[in-house]
Order: sequence, then structure tokens, then C-alpha cells
Amino acid sequence: MNRHLISIDDLAREDIERVLRRAESFAEVSGREIKKVPTLRGRTVVNLFYESSTRTSSSFELAAKRLSADTVSIKAQGSSVDKGESLKDTIQTLSAYDPAAIVIRSPHVGAADLVARWTPAAVINAGDGKHEHPTQALLDLYTLRRRTGTLDGLSVWIVGDVLHSRVARSGVLAFARMGCKVTVCCPPTLIPRGIEALGCEVRHTLDDLGEADVVYTLRMQQERMNGTLVPSLREYAARYQINGRRLGPGQLLMHPGPVNRGVELSAEVIDSPQALIAEQVESGVVVRMAVLYELLTAGQGGGPAAGQRLPSNEPTERQPA
Ligand code: NCD
Repeated sequence: MNRHLISIDDLAREDIERVLRRAESFAEVSGREIKKVPTLRGRTVVNLFYESSTRTSSSFELAAKRLSADTVSIKAQGSSVDKGESLKDTIQTLSAYDPAAIVIRSPHVGAADLVARWTPAAVINAGDGKHEHPTQALLDLYTLRRRTGTLDGLSVWIVGDVLHSRVARSGVLAFARMGCKVTVCCPPTLIPRGIEALGCEVRHTLDDLGEADVVYTLRMQQERMNGTLVPSLREYAARYQINGRRLGPGQLLMHPGPVNRGVELSAEVIDSPQALIAEQVESGVVVRMAVLYELLTAGQGGGPAAGQRLPSNEPTERQPA
């Protein structure tokens, strides 16, 4: 596994399998009354969020805490970023605390990749503009596999604002890598050019939605839209909303949140037993624990890389440093 997690492309299928297995083992910890293991005791995880987030930021923070790391969580609002400090200066400042990992969310494509060049810490991309959101894709795989038992051969339809969605990009790569057949479906104005190259088919109507085992819906990201890409949300909903009429009884429903109720999803499907939306949120913690664990306690074979000193009390499978 790479030292950083910037893109799903950093992960081979075996790496993904390992993260999912590790997450399973942390699910047991989450069931205990005291939900903590000492794995990252004495190490520091910095969460740096330059964009709003509820699920991703809270689950990264909980994940680091449940591994006993010290955490520093910074939101752009209220930090020196407000005062015009550059990303590079911010990273250099935070590097003074010698963090083992920096988790970053930014509105800019490529921000996590840049951060990885400026710090010896392991860098985890928690969403860079409309580029990628790899831990979301991993938690989606984990959630789906828990429900279905297998991912191989499943037909996954990703429906919604694909153009602005880092979740879609990471999702196509991840589902395809795990053997799913991926279809993206949205109005022609909301499809990024060349997305087929990531490993999916493209449709512009829901006519064949019946072939999907899983319907993965996306939010209309109005904050990233400049101009009128869809005539109106009402018109979008009329053609693409997943509702009780369109979702078949055997199909599973996913959404990364936050949901725009009444736009991409109707209330009755959000609250149906076919929806995995609450499980996706719950999985966020154990999957992010697994990612932190795999990156920070690396060393399968090779010695610990920069920023990856092994904690002395770590009961791991590898040799002590
Ligand atoms: C997504 C994001 O921020 O990329 N949400 C999330 O991380 N759970 C999707 C979205 O904002 O629509």
C-alpha cells in the first residue's frame, strides 16, 4: 500500500481487501463499551477541513480517537486560513507538531497531492474539489459487502450530479476494481467528459434502471454549479429522482449524504429498509480507523517510512522497529 491515500488508484484490489478486513476487525471494537485500542497512542492526527463536512470530519476524528491518537481538528473558518495564510504555510506550521497523518479536505482538485509533497506525514484525501474522496468509496464498499456478502458481479448504477462529484469518481474506480459492473446515469450536462475511461458505462435515462442491484444516488451540488446545467431542480427530480415508483423491491439504495430530500431521493425511499444510508455513516468510523491503521503502522516487509515510527507498545503483526 502507498504511504498516502490520495486516490483509489493508489490501492490495488488486495489493498482494498486488506482495509475492508481490518475495518471488520474494528467493528468489534466499536461494539464494546470502551471503544478504544492503544494502536496510535502518542501519535498525532491533524484534520484540516477547508470545506464544510459533517460525516467525514466527525468520523475521522472519532476514528483517530478510537485508535488513541491525539487529534487536532482545524476548520478553515476561525483559523489563520481566514487571515490569508497559504496552504503551504499552514502545512509547514502544523508539521511542527510532527503529525503522523494529515487528513485534508479542500475545494481544490489536487490539494491533497500537494500537501503530500510538503510534509513527511501520511496524507489522506478527505475530498479534493470534484476530484476524489477515496475513504468514502472504501466505506461504501464495506457497507455494501456487509449487506450482500460479495461485490463481484453486482450491477451498480450511480445516479445524479456526476460532474461535480468526487464521490462518483472514487466510487466508479472502487466498485469497478472490486468486480462490479458500473453505470453512471445523469443528464448530458452533468457528465464529465471521458468518465468511461474510469471503468463505467454512461446512460442518460433511467429506462434500464431495473438491471441495477444497487442504486447509488448523488446530491445535486449547487455550490459547485456556475450557470444553469439543469433547467430546474423540479425538472431534474421529474426525470431522475429515485422514488418508490422507480426503486424496485430487490434493489439496494445508497447515498453519501447530505441528502436533498425531495430532489435526488423521495422521503419514502430514504426511510425504506432497502436504504443503506445510515449504515454508510456508521461504517465511516471503522473504515477510517482501518485506513489510519494501514497507513500508520505500515511496514509489511519494508521498514517504517518517514513519519511512520512504530509505537513501542504496538501489538502488531510486524517486527518492532
Ligand atoms: C460528499 C462530499 O462532501 O463529497 N459527502 C460526504 O463526504 N459524505 C458528497 C456531497 O457533498 O454531496
